[in-house]
Amino acid sequence: MKQKIVILTGAGISAESGISTFRDSGGLWENHRIEDVASPGGWKRDRNLVLNFYNQRRRQLLECKPNRAHFALAELESKYDVTVITQNIDNLHELGGSTNIIHLHGELLKARSTIDETLIYECKKDIELGDKCEKDSQLRPHIVWFGEAVPKMDEAIVATREADIFIVIGTSMVVYPAAGLINYCKYEVPKWLVNPNEIALPRIPNLKFINEKATTGVDYLVKRLLEEQ
Ligand code: OAD
Repeated sequence: MKQKIVILTGAGISAESGISTFRDSGGLWENHRIEDVASPGGWKRDRNLVLNFYNQRRRQLLECKPNRAHFALAELESKYDVTVITQNIDNLHELGGSTNIIHLHGELLKARSTIDETLIYECKKDIELGDKCEKDSQLRPHIVWFGEAVPKMDEAIVATREADIFIVIGTSMVVYPAAGLINYCKYEVPKWLVNPNEIALPRIPNLKFINEKATTGVDYLVKRLLEEQ
């Protein structure tokens, strides 16, 4: 049976594809207030502002391509059973060839109903005020906002508990519950963290740090893991 690798990714893995991170210098949260554009309260106060924010993100994403790190993770599937758990709302893991992806925080290229969260639609264009679902309610971005439940968390926990190897790439590990996933790993599981910057973490057993950008760090790690099999 193949060993199971579970990978948690954040905005840093897409940075070299040209997508801004949130908390680095020049990141998205420097110019936009979370409570205005990524919370149910913000949506209630000003739908136009929220729609414009995600419309801009969507237009930008459609210009971007996966980078070496996304492609390398897909190569792992030749020898391992791989689950990618991503906090990213882009589709660059899909375009990079990964086939088993859990989108914890939703997906930019989907829209959903405001009254029935099971009504989800493919969406490659701007969402405008007045765009409605089949139950006649305004469409919103299919994004998990701050203050909302994370429906895919249970699935992510099950995968993490089963991991033989756990890898964390390009996340500041400050947003919960995603940042807490690593604590569901078995003690003896080797854990790898790829990030060009230092991350403050509580004591995690068997953790190794690769102090590199995603393209170089992930490429190195994937080659090493493929050689081990
Ligand atoms: P952050 O912006 O908080 O963190 C990005 C991380 O990527 C930082 O730790 C950087 O050091 C690292 N980084 C930057 N460039 C990199 C590169 N080239 N290669 C590898 N790492 C690099 O983004 P997230 O941790 O993903 O949620 O943020 C988590 C959540 O907070 C997001 O999903 C989003 C945000 O608010 C929602 O909007 C719900």
